[in-house]
Amino acid sequence: MSKEICILAYSGGLDTSVCIRWIIENYKLDVVACLVDVGQEQDETIDDLVAKALEIGAVESFALDVKDEFAHEYVALSCMANGMYENKYPLVSALSRPLISKALVKIAQEKGANYIAHGCTGKGNDQVRFETSIAALDPSITILGPVREWDLGSREAAMDYAEKFNIPIPTTKCTPYSIDDNMVGRAIECGVLEDPNVAPPEDVFTITQDPKRADAPDEEIITISFEGGLPTALNGKEMKLADLLAELNLIAGPHGIGRIDMIENRLVGVKSREVYEAPGMMTLITAHKALEELTLERNLSHYKLILEQEWSKLVYSGMWFSPLKLAIDAFVASTQTYVTGEVRLSLYRGNCTVVGRTSPYSLYSYGLATYDSSDQFNHKAAKGFMELYSLPIKVWSEVQYKS
Ligand code: ARG
Repeated sequence: MSKEICILAYSGGLDTSVCIRWIIENYKLDVVACLVDVGQEQDETIDDLVAKALEIGAVESFALDVKDEFAHEYVALSCMANGMYENKYPLVSALSRPLISKALVKIAQEKGANYIAHGCTGKGNDQVRFETSIAALDPSITILGPVREWDLGSREAAMDYAEKFNIPIPTTKCTPYSIDDNMVGRAIECGVLEDPNVAPPEDVFTITQDPKRADAPDEEIITISFEGGLPTALNGKEMKLADLLAELNLIAGPHGIGRIDMIENRLVGVKSREVYEAPGMMTLITAHKALEELTLERNLSHYKLILEQEWSKLVYSGMWFSPLKLAIDAFVASTQTYVTGEVRLSLYRGNCTVVGRTSPYSLYSYGLATYDSSDQFNHKAAKGFMELYSLPIKVWSEVQYKS
């Protein structure tokens, strides 16, 4: 009788390489390795990584390129929602996990697999994101988290295990950091970063350059165009979102834009020190917010800010596929109809500054705003407005506020 199948979220790194053998040995399952490409940097070619999984013992191994789906169904929503956990973190890893889960579930259903495995530790947020997403998409699937179960407590122990089973050790640069990346940016933790009082060393960054360095580039002015809340063109050139973001990373990175150093509240209850670099996404969100300032009516704008925070918290917490997150998506989408126009930004030495914005749907009225002779604002009406606006405060003051 053939063995049951387990679909493994395989990255090509040490942990998920060891996972292949470990699942075969301990669960007696056939492993199908699936590398989901969301735009992460690779030290080896995807073909080599896929071949390696077969060498280790996977019965099948392949890569799925979901970059465009990631851009259009995940990154785009986050841009419209100005997604930023704790007002700082542009949800790099949190955005990719639900899509990776969706890809794994699809493969599991195609292959009749009852198991999906991931290589997350028991201490992080990613296990939660994988497991809640898989549960939402196919509650019948059993999820395995070998790294949470095995007794290979350290990287060295995992290396020993790899040696014992002839698992090729990934040629990943020997780095003291734990890194996750995709087209939105990079998340870096561990090593010296675990001391919150130590400034991030330059070697944690690969897609941004130190804005303080002597040969930092001169100021650069760029223009981003939006239609219905979505970025459509860069410097007048229309591009699909994945390309636009990649290009923006290349433009904003050398200016040192989008470096984030924070102490973050993880879902599992610990505070952790996280460093991110997301030059393109931070630039996009800055531009998008500027266009919303121009085009969203006041109450809508204020209420959206509240829901943006809730949306970001839900996405961070693995609730991508959940009724509240879906309902907020609908709200956000309904706010974006008129978020169309262009934003001009200055990039210079770590700063991304809005220097201009235009929209055919701009709610900014020169006649109402100006202090010059073309002023159309009804100053006389202000007197009556003030009287009624302050009326409840007057009543309250007379009765309750007098000392
Ligand atoms: N703290 C971030 C998050 O929870 C990033 C975690 C990614 N993992 C890593 N190995 N750096 O979304």
